[in-house]
Amino acid sequence: MSLVVGIGLRTGTSYRELRDLLDAALAGLEPRDVTQVVTVDGREAEPGLQRLVASLGASLFTATALELSQQPVPTPSDHVDRLAGTTSVAEAAVILSGAELLVPKQRSARATVAVGRLPEQQVPAAPGYAVGDRDVVHRVLAERRDVRRGFLDRPIADDLLTRVLESAHRAPSVGLSQPWDFVLIRDIATRRKVHDLATAQRDAFAASLPAGRRSAFDGLKIEAILDTPLNIAVTCDAGRGGRHVLGRHADPRTTWFSVAIAIQNLWLTARAEGLGVGWVSFFEPGEVAAVLDLPGHVELVGYLCVGHVEEFAGTPELVRSGWAARRPLSWAVHQEAWGSRGLPGEQPSAVIAEDAARAGSAVRAVAGEQSVYLAVVDGADGAEYLRRADGLVVRVGAEKPAADFGVLWRPARTADEAVELGVEVARDLAPQGVSEIVVEVIEPTEITEGLARGVFLGGLACGVSVKGSDGLGEVSHSSA
Ligand SMILES: Cc1cc2nc3c(=O)[nH]c(=O)nc-3n(C[C@H](O)[C@H](O)[C@H](O)COP(=O)(O)O)c2cc1C
Repeated sequence: MSLVVGIGLRTGTSYRELRDLLDAALAGLEPRDVTQVVTVDGREAEPGLQRLVASLGASLFTATALELSQQPVPTPSDHVDRLAGTTSVAEAAVILSGAELLVPKQRSARATVAVGRLPEQQVPAAPGYAVGDRDVVHRVLAERRDVRRGFLDRPIADDLLTRVLESAHRAPSVGLSQPWDFVLIRDIATRRKVHDLATAQRDAFAASLPAGRRSAFDGLKIEAILDTPLNIAVTCDAGRGGRHVLGRHADPRTTWFSVAIAIQNLWLTARAEGLGVGWVSFFEPGEVAAVLDLPGHVELVGYLCVGHVEEFAGTPELVRSGWAARRPLSWAVHQEAWGSRGLPGEQPSAVIAEDAARAGSAVRAVAGEQSVYLAVVDGADGAEYLRRADGLVVRVGAEKPAADFGVLWRPARTADEAVELGVEVARDLAPQGVSEIVVEVIEPTEITEGLARGVFLGGLACGVSVKGSDGLGEVSHSSA
């Protein structure tokens, strides 16, 4: 039997309290059958919870408040809704995991638990694969992590490293062009030079951030170049295989995609072999290529820090630290046409605005909460708004602006489409720590105003406060 435990808890809840509550709830069920513990995003770093999960030998998973709020639970609570943005954590977590609820919500002073039984695997695995084999694949995918800390001072055996590289080298590639190479870097002098480059980029990124977000960023570790025994530069030779590589002619990007897939193969195999991998992209790739003395036709795609670790965290570090939140899968799946969102088997919601208005639940990162000043333009470049660290321009005109992460191009063809795109803008800012959006419509048209209306709706759905630049609830218009 495989049990799943849903847990809601306040910050600082002790291991003892959680353990006593769980033992009482399990009454008659075996703690060793607990394979999964599920809680709401943001609680996974609680020391008491982590100790409980370790003592059970279970895996810890999180769900967003939005995902939890969509589960039909026997004992919803308005009180919990006000605190957590969902009427249930413990029971909803059990139901969300696909388990049958065996023990409804039990409560202690600071926590709630519910227990469910996962269904026996009925669905057969692929021919030649036992059900357990398939489960291991899903497990490795779920438990792969970007690792930046906790590396051990232990060399990586050559046969182990070769296995990992073989797996990377087996990746699919456009026209079987296999455009990757792996440069293994152990030399400390080289790694120091690369580390200096990353530090310079880290400083530049920090300087670009609004104040609150910057202090949150200061607490984050973004690389382990000097903390790992091995760095691997994964490169791309975009011309490999000559002129007639099958499938590449119409979309040259497929060459770089192929290298990224090789990196993912490496990452997953390393996970199963107990090696932590951290991808560092705080570089201008040409600078790393120069340090490594790469030939001119070879480009850097990924720079990886690799080493043995004792353990892998249950959730991404950026989620644990509150820097970013996961986007629900249901936002990412469109049925037949863009905007018709819904998971397989669900009735898709045709208008994202309706979906947003219904959701009413937070999917928001919380570290270094930021306010964004959003200028909605039609064709203007909005350059003056980009001089502000908190400035972001949304341009709705048909002409594509030059690439700039400060300018979101949302070419809406109708006012309705503009509303939908506005909802998306707000919803997609929330998981990146945005807690407030101040909107100014610079060039009022029905399209720009529709987009601003969508931002209001999207903000509502994600717990992001949206107001006009005049400080009132209405979107203000520039006098220009
Ligand atoms: C292309 C790419 C570049 C990345 N660059 C960095 C980086 O420079 N520093 C860092 O700390 N993490 C980096 N990451 C790791 C992501 O932050 C991480 O994958 C994400 O937060 C999800 O966490 P998980 O990989 O543990 O699931 C990168 C990941 C990818 C795919």
